Amino acid sequence: MKNREHWGSKLGFILAASGSAVGIGNIWKYPHMAGQNGGAAFTLIYLLCILVVGLSIVITEFVIGRKTQLSPVGAFETLAPNTAWKWVGFLGVASAFVILSFYGVVGGWILKYIIVSLTGGFNVLKGDPEAAGSLFNNFITGTWSPVLYQIIFMAVCIWVIVHGVKGGIEKWAKVMMPLIIILLAVLAVRGITLKGGLEGISFLFNPRFEDLTASAIVLALGHAFFTLSLGMGTMVTYGSYLDREQNLLNSALWVIALDTAIAMLAGVAIFTTVFALGANPAEGPGLIFVVLPSVFPQLAAGTLWGSLFFILLFMAALTSAISILEVVTAYFIDQKGWSRTKATIQFGVVITVVGVFCSLSLGGSINLTAFMDITFFDFMDYLSSKYMLPIGGMLTALFVLFHWGVPNFIDELYMGISSKKIDSRIAVILLLVSAMVVGFIILNEIIAKITGTAVIG
Ligand code: PHE
Repeated sequence: MKNREHWGSKLGFILAASGSAVGIGNIWKYPHMAGQNGGAAFTLIYLLCILVVGLSIVITEFVIGRKTQLSPVGAFETLAPNTAWKWVGFLGVASAFVILSFYGVVGGWILKYIIVSLTGGFNVLKGDPEAAGSLFNNFITGTWSPVLYQIIFMAVCIWVIVHGVKGGIEKWAKVMMPLIIILLAVLAVRGITLKGGLEGISFLFNPRFEDLTASAIVLALGHAFFTLSLGMGTMVTYGSYLDREQNLLNSALWVIALDTAIAMLAGVAIFTTVFALGANPAEGPGLIFVVLPSVFPQLAAGTLWGSLFFILLFMAALTSAISILEVVTAYFIDQKGWSRTKATIQFGVVITVVGVFCSLSLGGSINLTAFMDITFFDFMDYLSSKYMLPIGGMLTALFVLFHWGVPNFIDELYMGISSKKIDSRIAVILLLVSAMVVGFIILNEIIAKITGTAVIG
């Protein structure tokens, strides 16, 4: 513990943590979810989830990490020795395996699309989403090509993590986060200034309460966890590399603000462009891999815009993926005394192998779909975002409330804050509300799975 690595600067930590938060969730998931589920009506619920549940859990994770200077398993073990709470930490490590296996596959798709775009490959898809759809489908259901790109993406992740907290994660977050913001802003301005682009903004931001179903509310809460990287100890791990000078409340607010602002900016950039060029905004998950490649060539300098978009998406995916791998690496360093290089390479490879199965389950030569009614890829996605992350987040809140104690939590939170005016009752209420809301949503999912009808949704 004496030699624990630390972040080089306060800003470095905020950029690394928001780099973890800002990812495929912001640029791919949020825009199509909001587009399909009532625009601003969805965004309102999403913001509420982020502000109440998200903020409480981000702060809690930071506090637990900084207090113990350990990644999740060790952190829970230190604060609650010889109890079952350390299993919350193990759940986090398991979630990291599950998420990164499919996240790495999507990371590979993004790499492929950078290359297709740079080599002018989008031009033949001009105004033809069907052609774009078959290009995408043929690619992801292939055997070798998607796996190859996935391996490259994972190799880059491993390479960054091997370089450590300051020399790897922080260094790259400092370069990539500003670039992501600049590129997105440029694309958003480009979109807004297109003729008809403003319609995209009203599609995204006009509230359509009639489209806001109960299941969209569940979706918004689950997404709040995913987009803020909560419930699996990522923020515990990043918090464990902090010293006591950092103001955790401020940092958490920054992370949430950046994450939300970038999701909105991505929505603006995408929908203004889609509307200006008359493409289908309600395409759903195919929005970025199918609609956009057919839309970019219609713009002047389309190759440039398309390439910039996928490059920024790659950077967002990378800064998130490394934070997932770091949870696994930190566990083997902290608890098993392994070297960083050995832990990262060994488990980076294991996760890549699991990811290969995710990729092949989409239609490659190995058919894993025979065993279940969804693909292995979708299974890993649902398992993590619907169950593992919310359960991990809920247990973390319960841990503070009923084991560690809110006064201890507030004492640690106060370090680094000059005005000490946090009422412990507020903390109790926020944590209780978070745990209850999440508990209800998980129960709702389970009831829906067993009986076929959800209580809500
Ligand atoms: N927050 C990331 C995104 O929005 C995903 C992620 C989930 C990262 C969990 C780390 C942990 O894409």
